This record gives sequence, structure tokens and C-alpha cells, in this order.
Amino acid sequence: MLEHNGTIFNAHRYATTVDRSVTGVHICQELTDNSIQYGSTETSIIVDSRNNRIIAADTGTGIPEDIFCDNFHTFHNEPKDASGISMAGLGSKLFYGLSDIRITLTKYNGIAYYSVWDFTSHETINNPIIDYFDKEDPPDELIPHMDLVGRFMSIESGTMIILPNIKTWGKYKTSAGRFYHALKTHYVERYGHYLKENGVNMATSFVPEKGLITWDHIKPADIFENTKYNSVTDKSGKIEVRSWIVDANSEQSKLTKFGINIYRNNVKASTSGFLNIGQRKKKGQTISIVKASPLDYKSIRQAVFFKSDSDDVFKINHIKTQVTLGDEVEQLCATEFQKIVQEYERLRSEKQESKVSESFEDNRTTFSISELAESTAWKIANGEFSFNKASGVYKTIESLPEDGIDLIKNILTSMSPNQVNKLGVQLETTLGGNSVQQVA
Ligand SMILES: Nc1ncnc2c1ncn2[C@@H]1O[C@H](COP(=O)(O)OP(=O)(O)OP(=O)(O)O)[C@@H](O)[C@H]1O
Ligand SMILES: [Mg+2]
Repeated sequence: MLEHNGTIFNAHRYATTVDRSVTGVHICQELTDNSIQYGSTETSIIVDSRNNRIIAADTGTGIPEDIFCDNFHTFHNEPKDASGISMAGLGSKLFYGLSDIRITLTKYNGIAYYSVWDFTSHETINNPIIDYFDKEDPPDELIPHMDLVGRFMSIESGTMIILPNIKTWGKYKTSAGRFYHALKTHYVERYGHYLKENGVNMATSFVPEKGLITWDHIKPADIFENTKYNSVTDKSGKIEVRSWIVDANSEQSKLTKFGINIYRNNVKASTSGFLNIGQRKKKGQTISIVKASPLDYKSIRQAVFFKSDSDDVFKINHIKTQVTLGDEVEQLCATEFQKIVQEYERLRSEKQESKVSESFEDNRTTFSISELAESTAWKIANGEFSFNKASGVYKTIESLPEDGIDLIKNILTSMSPNQVNKLGVQLETTLGGNSVQQVA
């Protein structure tokens, strides 16, 4: 017989108030976080609408007996394991928003035990049922779920959590399908990069009321594939800021959101918008910050990577871990953002230049802008320039010094493609075509 040893911290208040702010998808996320943190290489979450339950299963280490009898059924609120992604000792207890009961089966060092934790009364919250698991004589609560037990018993070690009798599919109310869709989308964004980095498999699955069960493998994703980025680290060397420009139509642009994407041990924790480009006062000090970015900068992205022991990036509030950038990292993001903006503007003006020559090529005779400019400059220098003297373009060109080639190039590239085309035709006519270098 196993017994619960922990003191349940303010559990009733927790279950009935704090818990309400946690969404259904977040509840599942916490279970999956635990799975990958505790060594699972095959992790799945099943949204079973047919049997009105959610199952989180993994092939991790399983839960050691002492933890199972204490922390796993006890509310802690302090950082413990700094190496992983756990923090508050709360994650696995956040199930009440979906289900009144949490059933756990775990196998550690070859021994299987289970628990039933029922949040419907004060009495049951404080007295979870915990015991060794005998497949031949399963507890009543597990009988409706025996279809899952065979698979569980066949793994060497691991954990399976069942949330039975789903009360509501979170904000999707009665629609398990919509809940599943939101979950899958969230998982791709949250775990994609982690899966690639760690070579782990993850799948989500949907069991509809009738018909075929779907399995969706979460695709491992490298958000920097074929991408150049700037990288800087903070003074501690633990926090890295990467800044880059995405191609708006690429697969990649879907994997990261516009703004600062924050990854904790390669798991996406949150996205914070760019705040303010410029300066602001913080605790009496002026610091650089990144501003709500002009729509123009939609393709500029930043990612902050940190390990869970990098204290200045996150804090724990009474419910869960919150990720907030510390001053130093915020400054780094701002300076890097400004650098990328410059790079972006440079690329953009290059692009405009190539646009001009592209449409110029549409004309019946093809000119290269630089050659056209060069030849024009020499015509001016030699006094051969004679067309449309009233035009503003002519006046500007006429006032140029002899070596005004660069200036002419600037003028041509700042003109609209239409104007350049007109100028090309005019030059061709006026100068008889021969004096202007034509490029095939
Ligand atoms: N799938 C699992 N495999 C192995 N151990 C687990 C698993 N889930 C939970 N545990 C153990 O139970 C403990 C409590 O889990 P819980 O999710 O409540 O808190 P946490 O992960 O420590 O912190 P938090 O989730 O708040 O960041 C964990 O620290 C871990 O030791
Ligand atoms: Mg956890």
C-alpha cells in the first residue's frame, strides 16, 4: 500500500479559483512538458472525444515512488529542478479546468503504480488514492480505460495520465474538434524547435465520435534553417539573442511570430511584441527599448534562448511561470533590432533598384542604368545634351559636376520606373541611339 506524504497547500482554494485562469490547451501543455523533461522519446497526447477523455502518455523515466507519494500530489511553489523546464511544481496539478479527476499510471524501475486524484471535495483533494498497480485486479476508476492499459504495460518505463469525464473543452465548449485543432497548432509552435534539437518524437491524436482516429506527428522544425542571423549573448553567457529577417512567404515565417520569440530550453515559452524603439526610463535609468514596430518591420524577428536557470528572464507568479525579459536582455534586443532595421533598409533599397532595372528592361530597348547614367554624364560634360531642356530632370543633370556619374545613378534609381522608361526613350531619340550604350 502506498501513502500520500505531502501537505496539500491551500488545495481547495487553488482548485476552485486560481485554476480557472488556465486554458485547456495549457493544461495539456503542462503534461507534455513533464513528459519531455523526464526523458520521454515518444510522447503523445490523445484528445478522445468518443470516450470524453484526454490521455497524455510518455516513455520517460516514470515517476519515482517518493515523488509520486509527495510532490506529484502536493502543491509546491518554488523552483526545484533548474535543468529542465519545470519551475513551480504545479504543472501536473492544473487539470481541474478540464476534468475533476486525474488518473495516473506510472512505471518506474519496472514497478507500476497508479493514483486517482479527485478534486470534487475537500476530503478527496487531501486524500488521493495511491497504490501499486495490478493489471489482474485494476481499481474501479481504471476499468473504463483498460483499452489503454495494455499499451502502457508493454513499455519499459513511462507515465500515462488520463483526464476522464471532460467537463468542457475549454473555451471551445462542446467542440472537441476545435479544441484539438487549437492544441495541435499550439504544439507545432511550442515544441517544433525542441523536437528538432533533441531528436524526440511527438504526436497528437484525435478520436472523433465516429470514424477514423487521426495521428498527427508534430514536425520537428529548425526555425533558422538556411537563415543567416545575428547572435549575441548576455554577460552571463546563458542567454542568447538572435535577430534575423524572414521571407514573408517562407515556411519559416509561419514558425515564428513577429516580435520577440522566447524559448526556454528550446521550448517556445511566449512571444512578446516589440515595445518601443528608442529610449525610456526604467527605475530612474534610461535604457534602449524596442517599440511597437511599424508594419514595415513585420519580417524582422528576434528569438531569445535561455536555460531555466537564467533567473533574470522569468519570474514565477502565484499560478505559473511568467516570462519577462530582464533589463540587460531587453537592451540587447533593442540594439540588435536597430542593427537589423538598418540591414533591412539596405536590402529594401537594393530591391527597389533591381525593380527599376527590371521594368526598364520591359522597354523595347534595354539599358543598364549604370551605363545609361555614365553615358549621360559624359554627354553633359561634352555639352552634347540637348533634349527637353525645360524638364526638371534635365536641370538637375545639367547642374552636375563633370564626374556626376554617381549622382546621376542616384537620380535614376530614385525615379519611378515609368520616369526612367521615358527618359530612356527620350535619350534614345535625342542622341540617335548610338551614343547611348544599349545592352542586350
Ligand atoms: N511525465 C512525468 N515523468 C516523470 N516524472 C514526472 C512526470 N510528470 C511529473 N513528474 C514528476 O512530478 C513532479 C511534479 O510535476 P509538476 O508538473 O506538478 O511540477 P514541475 O514539473 O516540477 O513544475 P511545473 O510543471 O510547475 O513547471 C515533477 O517535478 C517530476 O518529478
Ligand atoms: Mg511540470
